[in-house]
Order: sequence, then C-alpha cells, then structure tokens
Amino acid sequence: TQSVGFVGWRGMVGSVLMQRMQDEGDFAGLDPVFFSTSNAGGPAPAFADGAGPLADAYDTRTLAKLPIIVTAQGGGYTSDVHSRLRAAGWDGLWIDAASTLRMEDDSIVVLDPVNREAIDTGLAGGVRDFIGGNCTVSCMLMGLGGLFRNGLVQWGTSMTYQAASGGGARHMRELLNQFGALQGAVSSELQNSSSAILDIDRAVLAEQQNPQLDSSQFGVPLAGSLIPWIDADMGNGQSKEEWKNGAETNKILGTTGADRILMDGLCIRIGAMRSHSQALTLKLREDLPVSEIESLIGADNQWVKVIPNTKEASMHGLTPVAASGTLDIRVGRIRKLEMGPKYISAFTVGDQLLWGAAEPLRRMLNIATG
Ligand code: HSE
Repeated sequence: TQSVGFVGWRGMVGSVLMQRMQDEGDFAGLDPVFFSTSNAGGPAPAFADGAGPLADAYDTRTLAKLPIIVTAQGGGYTSDVHSRLRAAGWDGLWIDAASTLRMEDDSIVVLDPVNREAIDTGLAGGVRDFIGGNCTVSCMLMGLGGLFRNGLVQWGTSMTYQAASGGGARHMRELLNQFGALQGAVSSELQNSSSAILDIDRAVLAEQQNPQLDSSQFGVPLAGSLIPWIDADMGNGQSKEEWKNGAETNKILGTTGADRILMDGLCIRIGAMRSHSQALTLKLREDLPVSEIESLIGADNQWVKVIPNTKEASMHGLTPVAASGTLDIRVGRIRKLEMGPKYISAFTVGDQLLWGAAEPLRRMLNIATG
C-alpha cells in the first residue's frame, strides 16, 4: 500500500475530493495520513477506516516521511510548508489545488484528459510538483479541448460567469443570506399580486444598499447583482483571474512562441452556487463547418456534452443548475459569428468544484500511485 498525506481535506475543495475518492473506491490500496492545521491529535475522519490520529500539518518531519502529499489547504499553507520541505531535501510528490506553484518552471498544471503526456513525461523526468489549474481554465479546456488540442484556436476571449463557490464556503452562505434578506424585505408585498412592482424593486434596492446587509466575504452585495472583478489587480487593468486564462491555458497545452494562443477576457462573479460558465469568442485557424466543430468538441473526452444550439436545449441543458453535481462539461451556443467564417461563439458550464478543482487532483493521485 502507498502512503499518502492529506492536508486541507476538510475544506470545501478537500471535502469534494474526499467524497469523490470514496465514490471511486480510491482509498483501497492507500495508507492515508490525515493532517490538520488546527486539530492535531484529533480523530481521523470516519470514512478512513483505521487511519491514525490527525498529524500536525506544520510538522515537516512527519510530512517528509511521506512519498506523496495532497493538499487543498490553500496558498498560504503551500507558500509556508512546500519550500521548507524542499529545502530539507524532501523529493516526494506534491499534489496541490492552490495557485502558488502553478507557474513555476518545474511544476506541471494537471488536467490529464488534456495533458496526460506532459504529466507522464514529467513524472519520468523527475518533476515533483503537480498543481491543479484555475477552475475556469480547467473547465474551458475540458469543454473545448477538441479545438485547442487540435491546434485550431488562434485566439479567444473568455467572458466568465463565476459561481460563489469560487470564493469559498463562507461566500456561498453569504450569497444565500443575501437572497433571503432581499426576499424578506418584500415578502408581504410579494404575497399581494396587485402590489406595485416598482415599489418592490425600490425596497429590494434599498436592502441591497443597506449597510447592514452582510457582504463581508465578497465586499459588496452579490445577490441580485454581479461583481465585475475576481482576484487581485495586476496593475495593468487586468485581474489576476483574467491573467490566469492565457498563462495557464498555454502552460497546460505546452504552447509557446509562435504557437502561443492569445486568450484574454473579463472575469465576472455572479450569484450562481457552484458551476462556472463562460461565453467564448474564438478565432479559428480554419473555416470549419459547425457540424464538424461540434463533433471535434464532442469527441475529445467522455465528459464533454455538446448541447444543440436551440433555445429549448440551451435553456434546459446549458445552465449551472443542469451541470452542478455532475462531471459533465456542457458546451453549447456554438455558431458562426457575424465577424466571419473563422469566428465562432461557444458557452461552457461545469461544476467548478469537480473538474475545476477536486477531480484533476484525484486523477493525478491515481496516476502517481497507479
Ligand atoms: N479563482 C476561482 C474563483 C476559484 O474565484 O472563482 C477557482 O479556482
């Protein structure tokens, strides 16, 4: 059996990872060691039969005994502990959800249905840091791998509609509390079908602008609104989330120099729960018929689902509600744009906690222990 250390398994991404590993029977053949940053000595999780008490996640001597460490603890933990382990000579595999190490020259961004070759070559060549990609990038490449991997994309813009879960568990709760507060502000008016909608609207806006409305996680109200900025300011007008799109896409695809694909866009937070959506404009290198584009996309991997570009299919099959809780990456609204025969639109939606976070790590662990 293979010893594997797990850090940050209790958080949101970590919990989804633990659930997926149980669903797939991944713990069979593993000897898991669970770490905690706050509760060392506490009991191991109930799902892990026979695992010892929780170890201290800052105890690098214990960590260094393990050949593989999987962490979803977050970037702060990675910055602190990873460098100390490496400095002490630890040469085990570090599988991480945080963005900290993604763009390091000696790390690989893992999304094996897209870059399995790079992962295998890296493992054989001594790469030791395997990092999950940004959620929107992973969902986009899982959905549109059929175009990207066949070298058909010259450039693209990705305009995102990102769910509250991208911020974390507290952000999801805050969004729901805000929805509740808004409804509460007008509940009696809503019961009366003849009450004036403009009065209702005014009362809702007053509640959204009420300084008492809790928006401590997002900083501003999200319910019934949106936030057109995600992550840090790069100082050039671009947000870090937007920068990641081009940087990570090309790193995952291994495209450099003249092959580099120009990807940029605006990243927007909306009041969805756990599925991220993106509206893409792609400039293709060839003028392909839509039917061929659809078959290339649909054939790329077993999780992509092409949704026919009709009103009915889009409304029912191409939404966060349809995608959440599944491993589907749904791609629809595929059509030629007015700009010319090489310009297409597409809309993707996928559960950002699954393919956007936990699933690439789970699969990397299986590859590493395979
Ligand atoms: N940065 C993402 C978001 C989280 O805020 O939605 C997933 O990587």
